[in-house]
Amino acid sequence: MINEYIRKDLRDFKPYDAPVKEYEVKIDANENPYVHNKEVVNKVVDWLQDCNNIRRYPDSNCTDLRVTIAKYWNVSMENVVCGVGSDQLIDSILRTFIEPGDKVLMPTPSFSMYKITTKLNRGIPIEFSLNNEEEFYYPIEKIIDLYKEHSPKCVFLCTPNNPTGNILPINDIERLLEVIKCPVIMDEAYGEFVSNTMIDKINKYNNIIVLKTFSKAYGLAGLRVGYGIASEEMINAVKKVIPPYHLNSFSQFFAQTVIENIDEYESYVKEIIKGRQWLYKELGLISYVEKVYPSEGNYILIKVTNEQIAYLLEQEKILVRGYGKEGALGNCIRITVGTKEENIRLIEAMKRYERSLV
Ligand SMILES: Cc1ncc(COP(=O)(O)O)c(C=O)c1O
Repeated sequence: MINEYIRKDLRDFKPYDAPVKEYEVKIDANENPYVHNKEVVNKVVDWLQDCNNIRRYPDSNCTDLRVTIAKYWNVSMENVVCGVGSDQLIDSILRTFIEPGDKVLMPTPSFSMYKITTKLNRGIPIEFSLNNEEEFYYPIEKIIDLYKEHSPKCVFLCTPNNPTGNILPINDIERLLEVIKCPVIMDEAYGEFVSNTMIDKINKYNNIIVLKTFSKAYGLAGLRVGYGIASEEMINAVKKVIPPYHLNSFSQFFAQTVIENIDEYESYVKEIIKGRQWLYKELGLISYVEKVYPSEGNYILIKVTNEQIAYLLEQEKILVRGYGKEGALGNCIRITVGTKEENIRLIEAMKRYERSLV
């Protein structure tokens, strides 16, 4: 009965499914495997003990957090907007710019929320395929052609790209920005694992907004904190659709504390990069792994001869992200870099499966 009242375009729409599974090693969602250090935890516990911090509404403008982020990136706080995860900012940006029937250009394979959120906002996703024969590189000329053909209202670029791990070099981004004049969402969710960012170019290109998150390198996935950095004009546009009191005060305080203790987190990032290098080498030695894609993120995409391996690992309570049999990611599995112990446990399990095949 209710169905006939649902928006027609949503009637067959499947809600995003993120099932909760039992695990001992969770390396399926690109989270940070390390625990927060004592000093950070003590600070946030002290904060929680002051009830005044919780019984009041949060600061709608996320002032302290924006000041801290702005200082870290050497921009002004007017260049920063915070969101409930970068997921919320993806939605806010699309809500700000697209009208029903407008087109949005985006890579595939990439982060699924670009397409889902475009559809929820009644836009039309126009996808460009990353070049699989060349390890998923961005096809620059093709993107320019599609931009000219479709005149999209927004363009998504993700670097390092999730799940393929490749980056889009800055000079290629600038080649695109010579042509693309509509809002460009530069998703740098995994930007802490590489050294290049477009943040220092926000004044040169006032149509870009760089998205960052505390969910990956900074271990706050459970608190849902993301932010965008852009020209003031862009930030003011996006703020129009941000709901009041959107980001809870605990998340704001914890994220601020993380930036204030950034050295600690940078050392985790170094460990994760070391782990990624080790995993890259070890995965390449396993006979049923056909391809290990080079990655600049905290995850590695591999292609295996049989996608059932994801299921077998799950039986051993090791959660990885499998992509099924079909499409550009057919027989591919994405593995998040874990702690040293977690990485060893994964490789041991994968080698056991290799022996059982002999
Ligand atoms: C490329 C990319 N962008 C954005 C997000 C969303 O991050 P958040 O947790 O900040 O919403 C993810 C999460 O997996 C991601 O992979």
